[in-house]
Amino acid sequence: MTPSAHFDLTPWNTFGMKAYADWGLAFDSLAELQQILLDDRWRNLPRLVLGGGSNILFTSDFSGLVLVNAMKGIDVTECDDAWSLHVAAGENWHQLVQWSLSQGMAGLENMALIPGSVGAAPVQNIGAYGVEVCRYCSYVDVWDLDLQQQLRIPAQECGFGYRESRFKQEWQHSRIITAVGFKLPKQWQAVTGYGPLRELGSQVTAQQIFNTVCQLRLEKLPQPEQLGNAGSFFKNPTVDAGKAAALQAEYPVMPAYPQADGSVKLAAGWLIERAGLKGLEMGRAAVHAQQALVLVNLGGAAAFEIVKLAKHVQQRVHEQFGIKLTPEVRFMGTTGEVTLDEACSCAD
Ligand code: FAD
Ligand code: EPU
Repeated sequence: MTPSAHFDLTPWNTFGMKAYADWGLAFDSLAELQQILLDDRWRNLPRLVLGGGSNILFTSDFSGLVLVNAMKGIDVTECDDAWSLHVAAGENWHQLVQWSLSQGMAGLENMALIPGSVGAAPVQNIGAYGVEVCRYCSYVDVWDLDLQQQLRIPAQECGFGYRESRFKQEWQHSRIITAVGFKLPKQWQAVTGYGPLRELGSQVTAQQIFNTVCQLRLEKLPQPEQLGNAGSFFKNPTVDAGKAAALQAEYPVMPAYPQADGSVKLAAGWLIERAGLKGLEMGRAAVHAQQALVLVNLGGAAAFEIVKLAKHVQQRVHEQFGIKLTPEVRFMGTTGEVTLDEACSCAD
């Protein structure tokens, strides 16, 4: 297979942006990937690897090669105390969660219904309802473009943190994730400490957690097929204990989550709502009326409308609380990733 010219990115981004890449291809094997990367026609072009495009905002057409990871396959091995899953990067994340549960292998249920591919899961260390993927990830297999070989990176070396890993910046251009290894202990422990899951009690099953998480997410989050979005637009900010205490004195009902290192995580959705921005519409972009942390495409929005709304939200929250929100969504410009400010200056 060779890449197609004028590759339509519209089906490959959940924001529903209309954009094209000069070239694009869905590859389903390592051999196919290697062949394209060695070919003089493509090897020096700006490159973007995509899973489902559910954490990306295309701010323009992409002058380069888009490679959609469509590698499939799940291998399971078993030892006395755990199941080990080796999952190809192009598998769908939610289907993996569903399938592993159906096989009696519990662990991933809190992360049900997170859109996107297995290969993207380690990139921002996806997480929901009290569990992050790093809890069960044992290794990440990559194709290393500098060394021209496959490498297995142990989870401890991936630099996992809250919505962070070394894949995001340091390895963005040099390593393509081809598979992810998971270890699911047979001695399952329910994680029900997060908000509404607390009501489930101690006799809960993994399937019940899965069902509850699915229900909560369907109630709270807009479905991209109906309203384009990329989930939380900003990360939840972390502040030092002094700043958190000062804010709590002023806003006693403000949610605040003390962290192990003494810092305090705040809820960006609450800050945005409290700044009076929930439901705000600017052109065809809006702050979602049910979940202020999600920015949505009301239909036919241009990227600059989303970007301008995001900047407005960032500025207003900063004015009111002295906190600068950091985007979680990645902005993809003409030849690669750009910051929110860069995307804004292009929009002016
Ligand atoms: P893409 O958007 O295609 O790519 C994301 C980034 O990863 C890009 O920089 C891309 O280049 C890189 N990448 C993708 N695949 C590879 C690969 N094989 N090798 C190297 N780099 C790669 N996230 C959460 O953490 N928790 C949530 O609860 C959550 N809820 C969401 C709800 C909704 C409605 C939506 C739309 C999004 C949500 N997200 C959430 C964000 C998103 O689902 C995750 O970031 C997901 O992992 C993105 O997967 P993807 O395959 O769509 O990645
Ligand atoms: N809140 C408001 N108003 C809002 C939204 C939230 O006051 O409009 C308050 C809630 O009442 C709650 C707190 O903020 O007290 C946290 O809200 P919620 O539990 O909905 O979670 P969140 O912080 O908005 C985070 C993740 C989600 C993840 C959920 C569940 C980030 C940036 N977002 O959202 O991940 O699904 O928790 O664990 O960490 C994503 O990353 O794309 C994503 C959707």
